[in-house]
Amino acid sequence: MVLDDLKFGVATSAYQIEGAWNEDGKVPSIWDEISHGNMKWKVEENHTGDIACDHYHKYPFDVRLMKDLGVHMYRFSISWSRICTQECMCSNIKGIKYYQSLVWNLLEAKIEPFITLYHWDLPKWLDDIGGWGNKKSIEYFKCYAETMFKALPDVKYWITFNEPAVFISNHWGHNNLSKAIKNVLIAHGEVAKLAKKYNKKIGISLNLMPVIPNNDLSKYDRKAADNFDKLHNKIWLDPIFKGEFPDEINEIEDFGGKLKFNKKEKKIVSTPIDFLGINYYSMVKVEYSSNNKNHFRQVPFSELGVKKDDMGVSIIPEGLYSICSKMKREYGNPELYITENGCATSDVIYHDARVHDSERINYIKNHLRMCKLAIDNKVNLKGYFHWSLMDNFEWLYGYGKKFGLVSVFLPTQSRICKDSYIWYRTFIKNNSFREKVLG
Ligand code: BGC
Repeated sequence: MVLDDLKFGVATSAYQIEGAWNEDGKVPSIWDEISHGNMKWKVEENHTGDIACDHYHKYPFDVRLMKDLGVHMYRFSISWSRICTQECMCSNIKGIKYYQSLVWNLLEAKIEPFITLYHWDLPKWLDDIGGWGNKKSIEYFKCYAETMFKALPDVKYWITFNEPAVFISNHWGHNNLSKAIKNVLIAHGEVAKLAKKYNKKIGISLNLMPVIPNNDLSKYDRKAADNFDKLHNKIWLDPIFKGEFPDEINEIEDFGGKLKFNKKEKKIVSTPIDFLGINYYSMVKVEYSSNNKNHFRQVPFSELGVKKDDMGVSIIPEGLYSICSKMKREYGNPELYITENGCATSDVIYHDARVHDSERINYIKNHLRMCKLAIDNKVNLKGYFHWSLMDNFEWLYGYGKKFGLVSVFLPTQSRICKDSYIWYRTFIKNNSFREKVLG
């Protein structure tokens, strides 16, 4: 891998930016239900994604913003509820046409689309019958994926799921842990199989978190770290790369049912993927605790120099290197993309009508340094997507948390390119993935 070959992009997801929640035949998703207060969760300030960044209407402008930014790739997700209005009824032409037009605009701008099929916004009709806890979800996900593979023949890169660990542990779209974990993994494998038929490159995006023991010399803390690794990372990685759940998984956690695959399922879940997407935000430190079945307790990072972002997430760029190296060491050095990396900052628009987000610039620089280190160490890293193109609906936090390179003033929907956008643009333009720019 030559350093200069690394590709750069930005990432978003449908519910967080599109708006148009009930337009052109779209049916409600669980996130419409959650934000409208119809479920047990509450979004801060009762914000909704009804209009969001109005990307559904403003996408030609946003694609121009990306073209001007000079990114090689754009990762976005499709709203399943725009396409499949019920069960295997995946024929909402207006929804399909919207994505065809978005893709056409991207290709025109020479930006490679990376499409996520599922970024948490399950159609309500599927949630009503148990969501991912219902085996039928596998069939329905396949119908949806196949419709999109056919509708977007020019899109090469596809991602089945975004961060199953998050939507599964939050119970967004299911009410049965063990069934949902298995069904999601099988649905991933089935769609990976289907992708081969359509000549697509297929992957999955996992929010992997490197974990260290609080006291490296304590065998109890080391075991605690090992348990965290199994429950958070290996529970997805092992089935996908090895066809089975990590050993002892059922002893260290109660999933309300046993996690185990039969022979046929093993084969499906481990259908070879073309790349792995890593969403990297932070790492964790744990120590032994006798209070929990899994025997770990998280310990905050109190080391000097470890800062937190506006979401309270500890900023530790080294973890990006560490998780990439783990993939090389333990999983055969697969092709990797950092499909998300970013931080929330408390940006303000200054009197000069600019957003001087130097924290974000430093954040990107420090994480890109780790990408470089990984590549220097022969990790098979192919690309980096910054989260996010623009400030958007940050799930239960509403619009209060800002992750964008572009600021969006919601009352007028005007976009302001932040300093970080300008920095990233210069960085990409000068092809400057070199020490002198990062140093
Ligand atoms: C999710 C994004 C989210 C980001 C920042 C990731 O876990 O995929 O949808 O906005 O984190 O919190």
